[in-house]
Amino acid sequence: MSSADAPLSGDAPIAHHLLSDTAAVGEDGRLSVGGLDVVRLVEEFGSPLFVYDEDHLRARCAEAVRAFPDGVAYATKAFLCKAMAALAVEEGMVLDVASEGEALVALAAGIPASRLVLHGNNKSYAEVALARERGFHRVVVDSFDEIARLAELAEGERPQTVLLRVTPGVEAHTHEYVMTGQEDSKFGFSLASGAAERAVAALTALPGVELAGVHAHIGSQIFRLDAFEREMELLVPFVEEHGLGELCVGGGLGVAYLNAEQAPTLTEWARTVRSACAEAGLPRGIRLTAEPGRAIVAGAALTCYRVGTIKELPGIRNYVAVDGGMSDNPRPVLYGSGYEAFLPRETGAFRPYAARVVGKHCESGDVLVAEAHLPADVAVGDVLATPVTGAYGHSMASNYNRLGRPPVLFVRGGEARVVVRRETVEDLLRLEP
Ligand code: LLP
Repeated sequence: MSSADAPLSGDAPIAHHLLSDTAAVGEDGRLSVGGLDVVRLVEEFGSPLFVYDEDHLRARCAEAVRAFPDGVAYATKAFLCKAMAALAVEEGMVLDVASEGEALVALAAGIPASRLVLHGNNKSYAEVALARERGFHRVVVDSFDEIARLAELAEGERPQTVLLRVTPGVEAHTHEYVMTGQEDSKFGFSLASGAAERAVAALTALPGVELAGVHAHIGSQIFRLDAFEREMELLVPFVEEHGLGELCVGGGLGVAYLNAEQAPTLTEWARTVRSACAEAGLPRGIRLTAEPGRAIVAGAALTCYRVGTIKELPGIRNYVAVDGGMSDNPRPVLYGSGYEAFLPRETGAFRPYAARVVGKHCESGDVLVAEAHLPADVAVGDVLATPVTGAYGHSMASNYNRLGRPPVLFVRGGEARVVVRRETVEDLLRLEP
């Protein structure tokens, strides 16, 4: 478990375990990340701004590689740009890409095709062909139509290695929208109905295709490791029965977003999965692999905004409005996700001021932190930060109300580099004649 020293009351200061590895608080209370003062970064690069702690990213990738020595993919949907793709591969990961776009960004970063794993419940012919022609590490097969697409493609020089995605029938305790292991799912082949069995037969009969193993992904933001144990209990017999060489547990490990939350580490997750496999009798020599996204990148970043207006509605609530919103973080609106907010100019300050942190979009649902606690002296012009925004924030950002998406900074050892620049009006107009 990560540090358990967080005070739990609502007005307590932001808990240190929600800040990234190199986060440090100076005697004046100001926050620095990667050796750089966060308020000053906003002065220089503007707001909103995603600030990623590069050492933190590298440490999580390295931890994942140690935890799953047989191979581990970074799920790029959580956050992808060329710098991130390169970093994950430098640290020893392969990349899970779930569309042609994600694949082409990774290839543009100079990642060899042999380090890409193609996912998707509805891969186009072009996507399957791209993987086949370039020689992707794995294609994770999701439907009988996809098997037909594979069959239509000419055999390449090498056989295409595939994994079979199955739905094990495990209901993880998480938001309904990100649960994927249950029977009623658009993903994979059901174990219980016999579809998985038939898919094995179809793939084994296909020339130029090598079925390496089985894959499942039971959902995302999962705190309770027993769901993964259950997954292994169901998958191990299938692997044994079909003499497969690889078992991929998928991703899904949860992270702490709130002061009061604690999440298992990647190391603890791997240990639990490994012992569940041993208990279920997984034969030696079978590769145990994984593909985390959120647990690699979420805690590495914070989003910095400027407070533009504060409205105090007596007897109702206080609204603190910032210069971003649902366009840079749609998770609160989509999943009711909770976040903390704090002021990096006084990081350790108590936060007795109850407010709703909202964005600047033209709808009431544009909420970033529904029940925020802020320091009493929060004022217009302040830099306000929400931690743990490194996953599914920038990657799900939109241009709603024609806001440009914020830039992404990587900070490390006192240096900042812009890895994605801020979108401009020219970017917003570039698709129009
Ligand atoms: N593998 C597969 C096949 C996946 O579909 C996913 C995520 C992952 C791995 C990585 O899962 P992670 O370790 O990040 O939980 N937008 C939602 C999360 C959607 C997850 C989609 N699939 C959110 O913001 O919570």
